[in-house]
Amino acid sequence: MTKYILGIESSCDDTSAAVLSGTTILSNVIANQKVHSEYGGVVPELASRAHQQNIIPVVETALKRAKISKNELSAIAYTNGPGLLGSLLVGSSFAKAMAYSLEIPLIEVDHLQAHVLAIFAEKPGEEKLKPLFPYLCLTVSGGHTQLLKVNDYFDMELLGGTIDDAAGEAFDKAAKILGLPYPGGPVIDRLAQEGNPDRFKFSTAHLPDLQYSFSGLKTSFLYFVRDNLKENPNFIEENLNDLAASIQAAIIRSLTDKVKEVIRRYDLKDIALAGGVAANSGLRNAMLDIGKRYNRNIFLPSLDLTTDNAAMIAIYGYFKYLSADFSTIKATPYSSVRQRPK
Ligand code: KG4
Ligand code: ZN
Repeated sequence: MTKYILGIESSCDDTSAAVLSGTTILSNVIANQKVHSEYGGVVPELASRAHQQNIIPVVETALKRAKISKNELSAIAYTNGPGLLGSLLVGSSFAKAMAYSLEIPLIEVDHLQAHVLAIFAEKPGEEKLKPLFPYLCLTVSGGHTQLLKVNDYFDMELLGGTIDDAAGEAFDKAAKILGLPYPGGPVIDRLAQEGNPDRFKFSTAHLPDLQYSFSGLKTSFLYFVRDNLKENPNFIEENLNDLAASIQAAIIRSLTDKVKEVIRRYDLKDIALAGGVAANSGLRNAMLDIGKRYNRNIFLPSLDLTTDNAAMIAIYGYFKYLSADFSTIKATPYSSVRQRPK
């Protein structure tokens, strides 16, 4: 019998609901919250209020687009963390109430692990090649940067990560320095396509092992821009594309250097990207180059599965459903990875 899973995501500033039939995406509705762009970052209180307004229409639209009724659902999967607590509470309370009233299983999902498994969700009719376990996944989002050895759907081994800012944060902070709106990653990506990545050199941190650091890069970018503005008040406008291309190149170099290090140390044939920064065109091309040069298979998620979305919550939920790994209404949301239940 077909299994329909409703996924609900509300960990940050996107309210999303998706319906999957097995691993096939029937709908994936995302309501972005525009309210944060003028503040240069997500305002938690405004985010939870917007989730409250969005959650019912977003879930109704997801069911409608999937052409199924709520009574046909097999289970409801929702993000339990990490994320903003006020935002998580909206999605989790809604999921619990709905699963309880429909008398169907409730499945809690970890947002970061869901980003990783997004690569397994397919569009109707799509026959996509999927990475084989164990494989390497570089997860790059607004809050996290991780190199994971994915041994199985539920077994992800942390090989390395950032000791300070995440890659997405580095993009967002660089954009803010340039006076660009939040989230800055997509804007920098677009501007960089018309710019020269070799025009300005920004050195990246060289940390031992498989660790990343992006806070020094942000500070040197800030000082560089500030010093040049003293000489020429139009420095940013006159060099915007080259600045975007150069800072993007520095972030990508830092990310790919460690991927190459993993290749040297581990025998992993397949490599996947995950998270919002996986939408970056420069990073996608750099990963494809690595694939050719080191003879590795590169798996890039489709763009709508990179940034926060509920299809990734539902696919993780589906795999948990198959192993009857259900949750109870007592599960409490957690804000950071450290609080993730074992
Ligand atoms: O995964 P995500 O939607 O949310 C978190 O879980 O954090 O990632 C959001 C991050 C933001 O920092 C955003 O600027 C970045 O992903 N991002 C990009 C691009 N699209 C989104 N960064 C670089 N290039 C992009 N095209
Ligand atoms: Zn995310």
